[in-house]
Amino acid sequence: MMSLETRTTLDDATVAELGELLVDAVEGGASVSFLPGLAQAEAEAFWRRQLPLPARGAIVIARGEDGIDGCVMLVPAWAPNQAHRGEVAKLLVHRRARRRGLGRALMAALEAHARAVGLTLLTLDTLRGDSAERLYRVGGWSEAGSIPRFAMSATGELGDTVLFYKSLA
Ligand SMILES: CC(C)(COP(=O)(O)OP(=O)(O)OC[C@H]1O[C@@H](n2cnc3c(N)ncnc32)[C@H](O)[C@@H]1OP(=O)(O)O)[C@@H](O)C(=O)NCCC(=O)NCCS
Repeated sequence: MMSLETRTTLDDATVAELGELLVDAVEGGASVSFLPGLAQAEAEAFWRRQLPLPARGAIVIARGEDGIDGCVMLVPAWAPNQAHRGEVAKLLVHRRARRRGLGRALMAALEAHARAVGLTLLTLDTLRGDSAERLYRVGGWSEAGSIPRFAMSATGELGDTVLFYKSLA
C-alpha cells in the first residue's frame, strides 16, 4: 500500500521522518546537498529551514508500510517577473523502495500540483550520471546544459551538474 500526499506544511513527526529519508539517501551516496556522515539533527534542521514553504510551494510525500518512502519539493520562484516558474528539489526515494516507480509517481504528483497552482515552467539540476538523470530524461525533461565540477560527490570528486527544464504550458 502506497499513498501520496501533497503537503504545504510539515509537522514535527514528518520533519523527523523526512530527516531519516535524507540521511538514508546521503548514506547511499546520493548527491543531495550533503556529504556522507549527515547527522539526523542536521537533516531535520534542513527541512525546518524550508518552512514556511513559499506561496504555492509543496512537498509531495509517499507513504508506505514502513513510513515515508519518498518525497519531492516544489519551490516556486519568489520574483514577481518569474511568477510562472518553480524549481524542483530533493527528489528522494528510500533505498528500501527504489525501482518500483515511486520516483516517477512523485514527479507526476508534483507536476500536477505545479499545474494546479498556475506554474508553466519547472527547472531542476542533477549530478551527471546519476540514476535521477535518466528518470528526468524519460520523464520528458529537456537538458539546458551542464556545468563542470559543480558539486562534490560522496566519493570526494567534483561532478558535473546537468540543468533540466520542463514546460507545463
Ligand atoms: C533517483 C531516485 C529518486 C529514483 O527513484 P525510484 O523510485 O527508484 O525511481 P523509479 O522507480 O520511479 O524509476 C523511474 C525511471 O528512472 C530510471 N531509473 C531510476 N533508477 C535508476 C537506476 N538506478 N539506474 C538506471 N535508471 C534508473 C529508469 O528509467 C526508471 O524506469 P524503469 O524502472 O522503468 O527502468 C532514487 O534512486 C533516489 O532517491 N536516489 C537518491 C537521491 C537522488 O539522487 N535524488 C535526485 C536528486 S536530483
